Parts: sequence; structure tokens; C-alpha cells
Amino acid sequence: MMQNRVITLFLAGVFLAAAGCTATRPSGQGAAGYYREQHRPQYHFTPESGWMNDPNGLVYYKGEYHLFYQHYPASTVWGPMHWGHAVSTDLVHWEHLPIALYPDSLGYIFSGSVVIDENNTSGFAPPGSGEKALVAVFTYHNMEYERAGRRDRESQGIAYSLDRGRTWTKYAGNPVLPNKGDVDFRDPKVSWHEPSKRWIMPLAVGDYLEIFVSPDLKKWEYASTFGKNEGAHGGVWECPDLFPLRTLEGAEKWILIQNMGRGAVNGGSGTQYFVGSFDGRTFKNDNPPEKVLWLDYGADNYAGVTYFNAPDNRRILIGWMSNWFDYAQSTPTSTWRSSMTIPRDLWLQYTPEGYRVFQKPTPELASLVKNSRRIGGKTIGETGWKMGVPVLHELDLHFDMKTCSATAYGYKLKNSRGEQVVITVDVRQKTVTIDRSGSGKTSFSAEFPKKHSAPVSFTDVFRMRAYADASSLEVFLADGAACMSETFFPNEDFSEIEFFAEGGSVSLTPMSSVNELKSVWNKQK
Ligand code: FRU
Repeated sequence: MMQNRVITLFLAGVFLAAAGCTATRPSGQGAAGYYREQHRPQYHFTPESGWMNDPNGLVYYKGEYHLFYQHYPASTVWGPMHWGHAVSTDLVHWEHLPIALYPDSLGYIFSGSVVIDENNTSGFAPPGSGEKALVAVFTYHNMEYERAGRRDRESQGIAYSLDRGRTWTKYAGNPVLPNKGDVDFRDPKVSWHEPSKRWIMPLAVGDYLEIFVSPDLKKWEYASTFGKNEGAHGGVWECPDLFPLRTLEGAEKWILIQNMGRGAVNGGSGTQYFVGSFDGRTFKNDNPPEKVLWLDYGADNYAGVTYFNAPDNRRILIGWMSNWFDYAQSTPTSTWRSSMTIPRDLWLQYTPEGYRVFQKPTPELASLVKNSRRIGGKTIGETGWKMGVPVLHELDLHFDMKTCSATAYGYKLKNSRGEQVVITVDVRQKTVTIDRSGSGKTSFSAEFPKKHSAPVSFTDVFRMRAYADASSLEVFLADGAACMSETFFPNEDFSEIEFFAEGGSVSLTPMSSVNELKSVWNKQK
């Protein structure tokens, strides 16, 4: 079958001429089998069927990572929002569970979070039972109010589970945070603030942030407003997250992640973040108000938030791999729509510009590697260099900048039809650009073919780690200083890489490798 053929090429290390490649998956039709439809990601989380947007309620509890998500099971476009649900013990293999939260008379269930009520502040756990309640805090979006033109259409509700998230009871006193007249009033991301012994809730309101605090998850008090005049305001703010983050040396800053519906660095929806301090009520930005920091320079990482209670002080982020504003509802997939990003571990690092958030693919992804091949020692000159690659792969490229004479270099991820995604490092401009304009199906959006670029800085070795799945690429640049996440929809799987250099040459150090990755969904393999 197609996968076997690609593996054979890979193991043999065959260098293919572009014309020599043949189709690796029947084009224009879904191959038979579970999770085998055309474009279906093989190691990213996707819903079994129907529509998915934001990750919700990311919580680690009793050995399980929960992934709830915005879900409309009846269609592949957005509709009445439910919370879909899956669990994983390793962030890589997911088990689908029944829908956790259904819309009700108060509204659709929009984005939100789940916390472990360790001290039973809510009283939801029966006293003396030893059980702990998982409490979901989410936005109710009332469509009748919206149709009637009422501004108070969004409010916050809670629900609890006493059986490891399997079943949920909505609180009879909902909404716990009614609306005072803000049309956009949503996406509570709750966590426990130990010094003040309060729950804290950053909430997106229009294009700024409000913070609420609570002793028990039921009574919420307004604490502060942030961001009316800070950061980027090209669109409505959505899905905030507020958490402390450490450097490897132990210095700590508070990070405010703030997703923004449109006008981000890539033109559409995207994610900015702020670095600062938080005293339990108020967030203070360390940077000048006009400074904008981006978590991802690609087009397809939106609504990302982090896990509550991740082990070992880890800060693990998952984003929705699509672009709300530009094309989320029109991507060319069949039975399902959209994917999550791979999980990423975040950390804080001091740079010449100040503290910044760095990210790397979550280490558990290493369990997906089924073949690894060193490709170091190669020099890429003006004639380029090609090799066959498995559809699912990680490229770990270490470019030697000390000997680099090229003005630009990079690689093309290609198929036999000449469709390609091009990743270019511009040595003089100090940028990395992804060009998916020739990547196959692009006509569903005028925005989709546009190029996106990230600024980078070079040290002696420039490291680029790229994770390719059937319809996406996530590139981690300069040891995690910048990231680019992009989707694509080729008519035939990409099966070849062509390295290129312009104006000189560049070498790959011996550390460089290409790793074939396993499918986590295809049960036949
Ligand atoms: C972000 C978002 C959230 C909202 C949800 C609705 O993608 O617009 O602000 O809660 O999606 O599905």
C-alpha cells in the first residue's frame, strides 16, 4: 500500500528526480479505512467526523490529558457548539469519548477551561467522599438573544464531573457570571492563584481583557482590565490564557496569551502574547504598549491555550490548526473539518530583546519515530539536492551558518504533480518564509496562497525542526525562538524534498536527520 512504498524509498535513501515520483495516495477520493480520507492528518488530533474549532478544558488529571474541543457533530461547518472530548496518556495517542457538554436553554457551549477543585472550594464533591470535582468553566452563547439583537448574549456557566470527566452536571445556578452589556464576553481560562487563594479568570471582552477572581468558582468579582491600549487590536480578542512561565535557570514571568480574530501577523486570525507580572488581580506588561509579540508566524495556529496541572511544571500548549477569519469553514476536507496542532512545550528564555516565549514539539512525540536517517554532512549548492521522504516525517535540520555563503536556502516539499510547499531562509533579511501558493488546492480562499514570514536570528548553527503530516507543516525555528504552522491540501501526498541554495552554498551538520513518523490513527498498521 502507499505507505509501504514510501517507507521502502525512505529506507533505501533513494534520491528521486521530481518526475520519478508517483502518486502515494489515490487522489480526489478517500482511501478506504478508518482515518484514511484524503488530507486526514495521521498523528494530529482530528474529530472522528464533523466540525471542530478551539481546544477547550485542557486538564491533566489522574494520568490522563483531557482534550475537549468546540464541536458541531452534525456538520462540517460551525453550528450549535458542543464540547467534544478525547483523552490521552501521552499527548500523542487519543481515545475519543462521548460528547461532554451539549447546548441547552442558556445557549451554545462556547470555549472555556477545566480545573481540578483540589480543596473542594465549590462544594461539588460530596464531603468525605475523597473525590475531587473537575469543574468546567465555559461561555454560554444565547442565539435567541443574538437574533433579538440583545447585547448580553454571552455569559459564563460551570459544570462539574466526579468521574474523571466522563459525565458532567451543569450547575443549577448558571450563569455564574452574567453579562453587563458586552457583545463579546467570552472564553474563561481559569486557574488557581495560590498566593491570593483565589481562582483567577482572564476573559476576552471585545478587543481587551478583563480579569475576574473567585473563592469558589461560583461567585466572581471583577478585578481588573488589561490591554485596551496595548498590543495588537486588528480584531476581537478571544481565548486568553494567563500563567507563570520559567526560564531553565528559574527566573519567572507571567505570560498572557491573547488570541485575536483577525489582523494578526499572517493577515488573519493569530496569537499574540504579553510578558509581564501578575499580583492575583492585575497583569502588568513589561514591554512598551506598542510592542507586539507573536506566538506563531504561520497562518494556522489559533485559539491555543495551555494545560491546567500538567506534570513536572510543564506548560503544554495545543492550538487549533486553522484560520477563523480567512478560511476555516471552507478547507477542502470531507467527513471532518480541521485539526489541532501538535502539542508544544513552552518555556521562557532571556534574549537581547528581553524575555520571550520559546516552544518545542512535546517530547512524547519522539515515540512516533519509526525510522531515523542521518542526512548531515551534505553541502547544498546551486544544483540542489533531492531525496524521497515519507509523508509523515520530522526533519531536524542543522544548517552551518559559519560556512554558509548562500544568500538564501531552504527546501521544497513536493509531489509528482509539481505541487509544493517552499520554505526559504533569507540569510540577509533574516527571515523564514513559507510559500504554499503552489501546494495543490488553494482556490477555496484568496488569502490561502499568500506567503508568511517569521523573523529569525542566526547563531553558528541554525536549527529548523519541521513536522509534516498529510496536510500540515509545523516549523520550529532557531531552537524554538519562532514557530510557523501551516496547512496545505495537495492533490497527492508530498513524497519528495528538494533542498536549494541561492548565491552560494550551505551545509547540513552531522546532527541533521529525517525521521519517519507513525500514524496514530490507522489501526491496520
Ligand atoms: C474562537 C471562538 C471563541 C468562541 C468559540 C466559538 O475560535 O470564536 O471566541 O468561544 O470560537 O466556537
